[in-house]
Amino acid sequence: VSGAQGVELTVTSDVGRIDREKVLGYLQGESYWARGRRSEDILRTLETSLCFSILLGDEFVGFARVITDQVTFNYLCDFFILPEHQNKGFGTQALRTIISDDRLSRGMWILFTKTAHEFYRRLGFVQDDGFFTRVMVKHRPE
Ligand SMILES: CC(C)(COP(=O)(O)OP(=O)(O)OC[C@H]1O[C@@H](n2cnc3c(N)ncnc32)[C@H](O)[C@@H]1OP(=O)(O)O)[C@@H](O)C(=O)NCCC(=O)NCCS
Repeated sequence: VSGAQGVELTVTSDVGRIDREKVLGYLQGESYWARGRRSEDILRTLETSLCFSILLGDEFVGFARVITDQVTFNYLCDFFILPEHQNKGFGTQALRTIISDDRLSRGMWILFTKTAHEFYRRLGFVQDDGFFTRVMVKHRPE
């Protein structure tokens, strides 16, 4: 996929490409959902999830994490494009690639968002009130 100035956008699940410093920096410093998450806990989630690094050429510009059994269920979380690279179409291109990944083609997708409903709607996600009545949550212990 070609990005700005013809530089290629790559989406890879190669764990060697995860820029841990940038992931920690964004999640703890900028995200609205993971600010209080400890570094060791974040690093643990990188090991236990299917993670995608989003690269512009060689530069790490974004990240997504999928909690999945690769058959029934894919939970998209910790998805971000670094602020200086947002609104250039990279998030859309990256997510399109991720949801087309062979390993993730069978299960249903779920995600939580406070603000980006419209962004996800364009990629086929819906707010399904009928389904929502079946969802139950048990919140994390304090
Ligand atoms: C959400 C995010 C991943 C989208 O990636 P991106 O590369 O910026 O998105 P794209 O350039 O492909 O698409 C941009 C479109 O999505 C919309 N959009 C992006 N983020 C949005 C948000 N938080 N709320 C509403 N709309 C949003 C933009 O308004 C834009 O719409 P337009 O084309 O009509 O101008 C990225 O903006 C981001 O990391 N945001 C902060 C973190 C976040 O909110 N992550 C999602 C948590 S569920």
